[in-house]
Amino acid sequence: MKPQAAPVVVRTALKQGLAQLREAHVPSFTLAAELLLLHVLGRDRTWLYAHPEEEIAARPAEKYFEFIARRAAGEPTQHLTGKQEFWGLEFEVTPDVLIPRPETEHVIEVALDRLAVRELRAGRKQALTGEGLRIVDIGTGSGCIAIALAKELSGAAIYATDISSVALAVARRNATRHSVADRIHFLACNLLDDFIHRGAACADISDVGAQHAAPLLGKDAPKESPACPDLVGVTNHQSPLLDLIASNPPYIGRREAATLMREVRDHEPEIALYGGEEGYELYADLIAQSAAHLKPSGILVLELGHNSLPTVEPLLDATSWTNVCVTNDLAGIPRVLAAERM
Ligand SMILES: C[S@@+](CC[C@H](N)C(=O)[O-])C[C@H]1O[C@@H](n2cnc3c(N)ncnc32)[C@H](O)[C@@H]1O
Repeated sequence: MKPQAAPVVVRTALKQGLAQLREAHVPSFTLAAELLLLHVLGRDRTWLYAHPEEEIAARPAEKYFEFIARRAAGEPTQHLTGKQEFWGLEFEVTPDVLIPRPETEHVIEVALDRLAVRELRAGRKQALTGEGLRIVDIGTGSGCIAIALAKELSGAAIYATDISSVALAVARRNATRHSVADRIHFLACNLLDDFIHRGAACADISDVGAQHAAPLLGKDAPKESPACPDLVGVTNHQSPLLDLIASNPPYIGRREAATLMREVRDHEPEIALYGGEEGYELYADLIAQSAAHLKPSGILVLELGHNSLPTVEPLLDATSWTNVCVTNDLAGIPRVLAAERM
């Protein structure tokens, strides 16, 4: 029989938990122990520090020490708590999606800045609502980019694509959680393959409605979803449609796998991590497809791997792209590449 866990006070639980994590060389072990305890107790940090002598009952104490053991063995904290904050919003995360990273918030900042500048250039000075804009997030994963943009741009029609239908199911739940599911169309596809055929038909949500995208969604959707029957023939758009394409594609090289932290290599989905042997392989198609789908003055915002810039920037040839800009992340790494379609 399993030994019964004894009740323990908050201070002792934290001390023991962080000692186990430190011994297992877990990065940010104090924060991890705190987050796991807060999660198990359903409390916030203020409570934790105000009640160091509070007794934790045997059952939550047992759960906490089980989480500590799993974290010490390499499971990411976010897989244990099931959540991660991004752009001030709480996202559900599972092993089917990449855990949203803070540096990806630069993608949102650059996208919003670029759209605002475009509005000013067009002589429109009012607050940016996204009215009339069509936006795609390629490789949406948890949905963090699409959902953050939907929250900021209440008038925009947003499309979120992913090659992984299980990731799309998580993204859709996150969109529901943040009350934007009716404004985001989720499509299972490889980059923007067949996007015009399958996505453009519901581009005008006032005509067609987000509910028509539903058959393309969910965990049961096949990897290569057929065109939604309701959408086929509604419109046969062949002209560029989009105002903004944002993407954080997989950009790690398989040859770098051994250098990754075990939390990443062993627990996050390979399809979300690796872009190919070198890492930057997806960018050429991503940029070529973006050039074909963006309107003139349409904006492309790409997250970059730590060493992708020298390979990716030359793909933005001067006959198709202008206003190319690089934004560094807080660690000084060139992280976001943005450009405007000629
Ligand atoms: C680095 S993750 C980014 C997830 C999320 N956008 C974020 O920033 O946290 C890359 C995502 O792209 C998806 N993906 C990989 N290859 C793809 C492809 N060829 N076409 C579309 N999506 C792809 C993966 O399933 C994964 O969800």
